Amino acid sequence: MLFCFTSLSFIFWASLLFTAGAIPYDRSKQGIHQSGPDSSTSALRYSVAPVLQPRSSKVHSLERRKETTAADQEFANGWFGQLHYENWIDYSFNSKCVGYDKNEETFMRNNLTTEVADRKLFASFGSYNKGIFTLPNLRDSVVKLVRLTGLCHETASCEIESLKAFGQHVTSGFATLPEGNVGVIIMKKVEGIPFLESSKWSFTLDEAQKMNALDALDALKREVQEMIYNLLREGKPLFSDFQNGNILIDAEEKAHLVDFGFPGVWPVKMVPERNVFNKWFERRWHFLWESSYVQLGYPVPVFYQPKAEERSGRESEDLLPLIDE
Ligand SMILES: *[C@@H]1O[C@H](CO)[C@@H](O)[C@H](O)[C@H]1NC(C)=O
Repeated sequence: MLFCFTSLSFIFWASLLFTAGAIPYDRSKQGIHQSGPDSSTSALRYSVAPVLQPRSSKVHSLERRKETTAADQEFANGWFGQLHYENWIDYSFNSKCVGYDKNEETFMRNNLTTEVADRKLFASFGSYNKGIFTLPNLRDSVVKLVRLTGLCHETASCEIESLKAFGQHVTSGFATLPEGNVGVIIMKKVEGIPFLESSKWSFTLDEAQKMNALDALDALKREVQEMIYNLLREGKPLFSDFQNGNILIDAEEKAHLVDFGFPGVWPVKMVPERNVFNKWFERRWHFLWESSYVQLGYPVPVFYQPKAEERSGRESEDLLPLIDE
């Protein structure tokens, strides 16, 4: 079993332990999603590294049940729980992304070292990637260099499959750098800036500006919601990582999705009913954009109780109704 997915399984089993009250943990560290280009991978890091703390010895069992119900909910609302508990999303904790472990075929047949020699750094990226670059002779393209070794490197080829699934033509290959071979993805450049860097958002917000920013954020939410649902209806996979760094707003204020790499894109088993999708989208949007709503003073709780029958390894007495506080 490869480390990357062992870790994902670990979250799942750890959550069952949390729900069984075996391991308390610092909830403030779990499932926090930072905005910024690195956030899908930082979310993964947060998810795979829950902070475990020694348990205080005797806890009353009702208290423990409340605690575990809360932990269970929190888990279901986390980055992967939000995918796992939806029956229309083709994701479970042992799922491998489409195209998994095909780096040899996907990257290693095409030596692009000379083609990308004059690249200029455009944006640094997550821990699986070595950055996004521009090329002087290919102005409408960007080059992404991806790691072919190290943690989760088997997921690198999934990005190529995802880009193809979304109908984007890409050139893939490898480049030999002093430190070794890296994967190369040459793709269409998307012009635009993230919402939080746009004029609609500012860090010195007065009350009126806050209302405008909130309206703009809600408008962006509706636009992205429509876009992602339409993609599903066209038979495309689910784009699930629509955080700030992955939505670029162009000069006409139109939003574009970027970053089709692991772990943001997953296949679906079916196109969900609109209201099912809307409920899921709403939760995930507020989860991914939580810090922006907090900054505006409008935090929206991401509330979701997983369905009892979808959990496994649970004793029926654990399946208590939610205790209202
Ligand atoms: C790829 O091409 C570069 C430049 O021609 C060369 O230095 C490098 O050794 C090649 N890499 C492999 C693995 O063949």
